[in-house]
Amino acid sequence: MLGGFETPLESSLRVGISGVSGQVESYHKLRAPHARCYIRGTPERFSMPTEESNDPLPARAPGLAARRVALGVSGGIAAYKAVEVLRGLQRAGCDVRVGMTKRACEFVTPLTFRALSGSHVVVDDYAPDNPDPIAHITFSQTVELFVVAPATANLIAKFACGVADDFLTSTYLASNAPVLIAPAMNTTMLLHPATQRNLARLRADGVRIVEPDAGEMACGTVGPGRLSDPGLIVAAALDMLRGISGSATVEGRGRDLAGEHVLVTTGATREELDPVRFISNHSSGRMGFAVAEAAHSRGASVTVVAGATSAPAPGGVRVIRALSAESMRDAVLGEVGSATVFVAAAAVADYRPAARAAEKIKKFDSSLTLSLEPTPDILAEVSRDRREGLLVIGFAAETERVVENAREKLRRKNLDAVVANDLTQDGAGFDTETNVITLLTRDREEPAALPLMSKLDAAHRILDEVVRLRRSGSQKERRK
Ligand code: CTP
Repeated sequence: MLGGFETPLESSLRVGISGVSGQVESYHKLRAPHARCYIRGTPERFSMPTEESNDPLPARAPGLAARRVALGVSGGIAAYKAVEVLRGLQRAGCDVRVGMTKRACEFVTPLTFRALSGSHVVVDDYAPDNPDPIAHITFSQTVELFVVAPATANLIAKFACGVADDFLTSTYLASNAPVLIAPAMNTTMLLHPATQRNLARLRADGVRIVEPDAGEMACGTVGPGRLSDPGLIVAAALDMLRGISGSATVEGRGRDLAGEHVLVTTGATREELDPVRFISNHSSGRMGFAVAEAAHSRGASVTVVAGATSAPAPGGVRVIRALSAESMRDAVLGEVGSATVFVAAAAVADYRPAARAAEKIKKFDSSLTLSLEPTPDILAEVSRDRREGLLVIGFAAETERVVENAREKLRRKNLDAVVANDLTQDGAGFDTETNVITLLTRDREEPAALPLMSKLDAAHRILDEVVRLRRSGSQKERRK
């Protein structure tokens, strides 16, 4: 039964804890802007009950050794692949404990995971044979990462709604650790708006998702829903433990934008007063370039129309320079015909001088009054003339009534999504490496307020919405 694994079991199972308290605290903060509480300091032991709990365990090497990971297994045909996830984490030196749903036990027995992990596998924490009667609390509060693979539609729905009716769901609620889930289910179930809504909710709650693969399913249908490669799930988990997040490979999003052509505007426009002066703003172009980088890494072909920028453009994307609102508009209208997604991240000046002086304006003793006129609204124009299938995403940089103003822009400019920035928040907005965004989409009432994150992470979250909107759109098409 255990054949095929080259590492002796004991070497994977006897682990200790060392030097992780700092990470525990920062991970807990990372997961949960809404965190209820988190454990400070290093727990003495990883308190999932184990058969060897009295052994004095030697500390492992720093890095990933002895990092405490909870692996949850829910009931789908892919449950057997959780064995590979367990083994991959153990090979990296992680101390893994397993919890299962009752249905998962129909597919793989707890004995398999117990033999491999060397620890009691909790299915029902109220069961008489459970060594720890409040395992969902002790277990959940001493792990550094909670991985669920496979995550069924049912489990995802329970996580999204905060239902706590078994060990895994109680563990999810009782834990402040970051969470990684790898969904696996029938294609129709995955694409159902309810599941997509639940996944979006989990993303908004800070849960990382390793997107399922597309291919032939056990039920014979073909489409997305197959559990992602266990190696990718392990890689995503290890990256989370190392504190890396955000890239497509890290998140296991794969090439989910293959076939899309993403057109992005970025940077500041410059509206010239005379040959040496202009009106502009502080935009660095970093956010739009991050969207371009993220889209490229997920398989899209990408064109960026960039105004003035101080951030570097990513590799692999086509960049067209257009400094004024007028020239940016012309460049965008020239490109949008072949685009499938338009993301307007540029900080376009709303006004420009009504006339540009041909010569440098001279200084006089009297005051100078400038006459300004509106610039073309590129985003509104693209949205107004859009052809079928083009997704249009705008940004809303606000300093007050952020959600109301952003929702108003969504409606007025007839957008698929708006990325709202509260410019008053630390770490948000212009010329920073980070951002704090709230996502509003045309199909969802509730805005999704995301915590402080890198602009690349934020870009991936925006593109996750593109993928979701695309999937829900094509599902509606099929239902017609
Ligand atoms: N935008 C654009 N062309 C303009 C002005 C804005 O394409 N001339 C786009 C921006 O790239 C952004 C969105 O419109 O995606 C919102 O820009 P913002 O300046 O926040 O909103 P406005 O509609 O200009 O409204 P206001 O400045 O009054 O908030």
